[in-house]
Amino acid sequence: MHWTASALLLLSAALLGGGVEASSSPASSIVWTNTQRFLFDVDGNQIDAYGSKINLFQGSYYLYGNSFSTTGSAFGIKSYSSPDLKHWKYEGFLYDPTTPSPCDAIGGCGRPHIVFNSESKTYVLWANAGSAGYIVGTSTSPSGPFTFLNQTAAIDPQFDGLQPADFAVETFNGKGYIVFSVLNFRSPNAGSIWPPIFQTLHISELTPDYTNTTLTSYRVTSPAMDLIDQETESPDFFVTENGTFYVFASNTCGYCNGSIALMYRANSLNATWDRQILSGYSCNGQLEGILPLQSPQNKAIDYIWHSTSVPGGPRTGFSGHIFQPLQFASDGSVHDLNCASSAAFNVSFVSGSDSLPSGVASSAVDGSPMFADYEAVCDSDQFTLYQTWQASQSGSIKSVSVNVASSVQTVPLTMTLFKFNSYQHLTAPEYKWTTYGSASYNASALTFVFDTVVASNSSNVTVSKGDLLGYSFAGADFAPKDWGRTRCVA
Ligand SMILES: *[C@@H]1O[C@H](CO)[C@@H](O)[C@H](O)[C@H]1NC(C)=O
Ligand SMILES: *[C@@H]1O[C@H](CO)[C@@H](O)[C@H](O)[C@H]1NC(C)=O
Ligand SMILES: *[C@@H]1O[C@H](CO)[C@@H](O)[C@H](O)[C@H]1NC(C)=O
Ligand SMILES: *[C@@H]1O[C@H](CO)[C@@H](O)[C@H](O)[C@H]1NC(C)=O
Ligand SMILES: *[C@@H]1O[C@H](CO)[C@@H](O)[C@H](O)[C@H]1NC(C)=O
Ligand SMILES: *[C@@H]1O[C@H](CO)[C@@H](O)[C@H](O)[C@H]1NC(C)=O
Ligand SMILES: *[C@@H]1O[C@H](CO)[C@@H](O)[C@H](O)[C@H]1NC(C)=O
Ligand SMILES: *[C@@H]1O[C@H](CO)[C@@H](O)[C@H](O)[C@H]1NC(C)=O
Ligand SMILES: *[C@@H]1O[C@H](CO)[C@@H](O)[C@H](O)[C@H]1NC(C)=O
Repeated sequence: MHWTASALLLLSAALLGGGVEASSSPASSIVWTNTQRFLFDVDGNQIDAYGSKINLFQGSYYLYGNSFSTTGSAFGIKSYSSPDLKHWKYEGFLYDPTTPSPCDAIGGCGRPHIVFNSESKTYVLWANAGSAGYIVGTSTSPSGPFTFLNQTAAIDPQFDGLQPADFAVETFNGKGYIVFSVLNFRSPNAGSIWPPIFQTLHISELTPDYTNTTLTSYRVTSPAMDLIDQETESPDFFVTENGTFYVFASNTCGYCNGSIALMYRANSLNATWDRQILSGYSCNGQLEGILPLQSPQNKAIDYIWHSTSVPGGPRTGFSGHIFQPLQFASDGSVHDLNCASSAAFNVSFVSGSDSLPSGVASSAVDGSPMFADYEAVCDSDQFTLYQTWQASQSGSIKSVSVNVASSVQTVPLTMTLFKFNSYQHLTAPEYKWTTYGSASYNASALTFVFDTVVASNSSNVTVSKGDLLGYSFAGADFAPKDWGRTRCVA
């Protein structure tokens, strides 16, 4: 059984340059849709950062979140940089997850957020280490390596005995804030079926160096303080120029296929918060962050809601992301999310000043588009799959890659690169193609996300413009399916 991202093929030919132009203008635009959910980096690998957050630091936007590629569950934090939110360069792990760290206890350290302290010129990383609380690390670079402080941050002592949970840290006008939830596993109100736990949302100021909280907290809740207010998690927030606090969140449902999308708004931390439900199911996702983007025309800011979303299904590593600008009414309220599958959101914004990165995929001569409605499919144990294309230029092939994630694969997956005369011949009896090379992979050579693998080990194949090329993808694997790790959804 193998998972493949439907027909993503990346091909590059030697001697032929890449097509990435340097960024000369600070203005950029991007079109997001509700159906194009997988993100890839410039090398064609799936962006492996869940519960992600994006900040503009120096000349690029940095996207970071928990990696699921190595173990199938949260393991370390990866970061990516991009000046235009389209060409993402993989920047590695924020710390080495293979060496002992305060994150070992839960293997990941969830919902990472980074704030920049302009006084100390330090990037401060916050992450949730489970019952240990929030761990804090510092670095001189937004992509690390981060060094963890020896002590976790302290929160308002009234929550002693409760578990610090999802959170976000942000800075506004030189002040740092944390919005966080605390989990109560022992609430007498827990139901036999639902809810198993309660969690409430709070906001505190950070200390001037952004590595701790000031221990005073304010409750983020509607006056109703109903079950919705007591199940809030995965928050992010911002403060407008006039000092209005906006907190966005979802209900309890980690990385799942939809939960209530919430907005809370107040003119000061200790005021009564207005609550709005923005969508009953967050367009089949769970909020992971709010990304502020400055308009190129003026100082106006678009606030982009983004969530961890299906595709994903049973494996978090197969999750995608959806993005859409929040629409504000003149009274400061927010319109419902637009979950229509036909929705498209074209946002113009000030891009980072760094030049665009390029990689194997962004400079490939022939390939499937980076932005398309890809889905995870799970059928290569039943079928031999073929993908074909026509060489658009003459040259020699450096590599042909395809996105495939690990599953059982006790029978190695074999890919063969070939040339053929015509589609009529290809499927005719007794036709033999010209083999250019092959490669095979067992499960341990693959990762738990849609990383690329090279589909041919031949590195010296000369092709002419117009040649018909293809690869086959075979690995009939009749081993019992490992339902715990990967489930094929019929
Ligand atoms: C943290 O603790 C280790 C030993 O546990 C020590 O070597 C290190 O100096 C400490 N770091 C700080 C910043 O206190
Ligand atoms: C945060 O503050 C508490 C209480 O003042 C202290 O015990 C703890 O060591 C501090 N943590 C960090 C990371 O500075
Ligand atoms: C917040 O307001 C309440 C009254 O509405 C007051 O009792 C409380 O002390 C205030 N808290 C802070 C930290 O200002
Ligand atoms: C997610 O939920 C929607 C209903 O809100 C459903 O149509 C869809 O099939 C679900 N997707 C998965 C992968 O479970
Ligand atoms: C800030 O502006 C929003 C509208 O953008 C308005 O709803 C809110 O009342 C304003 N707050 C203050 C303190 O003026
Ligand atoms: C998005 O908007 C920008 C600026 O208005 C425009 O230049 C660009 O062509 C639009 N993109 C699409 C795909 O419509
Ligand atoms: C490379 O390809 C050849 C066939 O073209 C095959 O015999 C060999 O096993 C392949 N090597 C690897 C490492 O896949
Ligand atoms: C998978 O391939 C690697 C590298 O070729 C090899 O070391 C390993 O033994 C293989 N595992 C299985 C289960 O075949
Ligand atoms: C590559 O192929 C050409 C002929 O197509 C041959 O002359 C050359 O020696 C080959 N190079 C290598 C490194 O195999």
